[in-house]
Amino acid sequence: MRVLVLLGAPGAGKGTQAHILARHLGLPRVATGDLFRAAVREGTPLGTAAQAYMERGELVPDEITVGMLLERLAADDAARGAILDGFPRTRSQAAALDRALAERGAAVEAALYVDVPADELLARLSGRWLCEAAGHTYHETAYPPRVPGICDVDGSRLVQRDDDRPEVVRARLEKQLGALAEVVEHYRAAGILQAVDGRRPIAAVTNDLLDSIEPVPYWRTHP
Ligand code: AP5
Repeated sequence: MRVLVLLGAPGAGKGTQAHILARHLGLPRVATGDLFRAAVREGTPLGTAAQAYMERGELVPDEITVGMLLERLAADDAARGAILDGFPRTRSQAAALDRALAERGAAVEAALYVDVPADELLARLSGRWLCEAAGHTYHETAYPPRVPGICDVDGSRLVQRDDDRPEVVRARLEKQLGALAEVVEHYRAAGILQAVDGRRPIAAVTNDLLDSIEPVPYWRTHP
């Protein structure tokens, strides 16, 4: 079982990279933010419980988040592993993941930390557009779609997220960066942290991430 964890501040590029790595490595991308947003759309009790925290830019409590993630990891398509995008976000989530994997005779292979300074994150999130069908990510100036408002990959409509309003973005950065630092430390102490410079262009970040987990550089197979 191959489990890779993508770490980064809100807007660092976790989702962008997780989609690419998932295709390249043939593993499902499991994103707790997407699971919560789907639950909110469907109006489930879990969605109702999570919504207020998300609107305030706070982390959803571990009691809700851990069970949801472990249930998703138990699905058939994750039997060979997964790329975790946005989980773990607290030290106790990281410990719960370690325990759950150990019960299956597995462990996190690497924690890939996409490092972007705080001053760039606000600009990234306020210009972000996502496709309705699969969450493919664009930026209105840095990475615009070929046709405005339409996803290059699947042709679906592009939308903005409710929590990308400037005041919620500021709250997310204020309230979540401390916990991120603790999770980074958890994986550094375990000797499996791989940090890359997330300010570089998307393809360069992908190359750096793949170089840190695979012996063959990405550009050799994708000239
Ligand atoms: P979640 O959906 O996980 O949001 P997030 O962590 O805030 O991260 P984002 O999705 O906003 O950013 P990203 O790093 O994926 O960046 P992206 O690739 O889109 O979580 C939402 C909420 O759910 C949380 O606030 C919390 O309430 C709750 N939640 C989720 N997981 C939880 C958990 N485990 N525990 C508790 N609560 C949880 O890129 C951003 C923009 O930058 C895009 O426009 C993109 O085109 C652009 N971009 C990407 N890479 C580059 C680059 N290299 N150069 C220039 N621009 C780039």
